[in-house]
Amino acid sequence: MSLDEPIHPSGDGSNPSNSISSPSRNGGLSPSTRNSSSATIPNSSNVLLHVDRVSKWFGNVHAITDITIWAYKGEITAIVGDNGAGKSTLIKCISGVHTPTAGQILIDGKPVHFASPEDARRTGIETVYQNLALCNDLSIWQNLFLNRELVKRFGPLAFLDQRTMRRRSAEMLSRLEVNIPSINARVRRLSGGQRQAVAISRAASWGSHLVIMDEPTAALGVRETARVEELILRLRDDGLAVLLISHNFDQVMRLSNQIWVMRSGHLVGGRRTENTSGKELVAMITGAQQEEQS
Ligand SMILES: Nc1ncnc2c1ncn2[C@@H]1O[C@H](COP(=O)(O)OP(=O)(O)OP(=O)(O)O)[C@@H](O)[C@H]1O
Ligand SMILES: [Mg+2]
Repeated sequence: MSLDEPIHPSGDGSNPSNSISSPSRNGGLSPSTRNSSSATIPNSSNVLLHVDRVSKWFGNVHAITDITIWAYKGEITAIVGDNGAGKSTLIKCISGVHTPTAGQILIDGKPVHFASPEDARRTGIETVYQNLALCNDLSIWQNLFLNRELVKRFGPLAFLDQRTMRRRSAEMLSRLEVNIPSINARVRRLSGGQRQAVAISRAASWGSHLVIMDEPTAALGVRETARVEELILRLRDDGLAVLLISHNFDQVMRLSNQIWVMRSGHLVGGRRTENTSGKELVAMITGAQQEEQS
């Protein structure tokens, strides 16, 4: 199969594997963003997330323009691109931080309009933001159970079940084997890597459909990175869709099933991971390779 062949969503209900149908060059099956009419609506029932011609402009800043991508259940979908390419803006449109200027987000084929990240979380979409979005003045366990506090009832009285939340927080974090001073420590006092572990644990524990991770291992050491990668694979094996933003090509090539490439707020193209190489991705990211439909 030619490396030039873009991702093409299969219509037979299965995820595309080696047998991606070859898109016609002029049939517009490539999810190019330069020509919005060319985006084909993915019709596989395994598509969990479909970003349909989404733009987000901040005044004169066109952070992303006309982006169409999709992600399958039980797969890891990577988004790559240089600094400022629009990756974080895109995932913030998906997770309810931003309202798209144009376009729509579909989950399981249905349009969704999240008013806030909390809204998205209620539908099983969890996000690890690049800036982590933790509450510095709360403890680790309070962050892990933020807006999901467990309550104990005695007749008409309700109490926070702190003991259970602390115990479960310790369990959530133990999976990552990150050294954490105490579950009661304020997040403000944690190192960058420890904070990252808290944010990842929270997302992995509560996400039930889609987990989005924006540079999840950027601040982590070798051992911690390996644990996080195991966790990502476990989420995939549990049937969730995982959206992974990473500058680490090695990680993207090892973990992902498909890759979307962004440049300067536009989508350059998409590839099934087995059909591409680090070299090709670099060429797409830097613009050394001609866009698919320019
Ligand atoms: N809230 C905002 N207001 C104005 N401009 C913004 C805002 N958020 C992002 N941008 C701009 O949008 C563009 C894309 O930014 P974004 O953070 O999405 O890039 P990125 O691909 O995540 O980059 P990086 O790899 O460095 O994290 C940048 O030019 C950025 O300055
Ligand atoms: Mg970013």
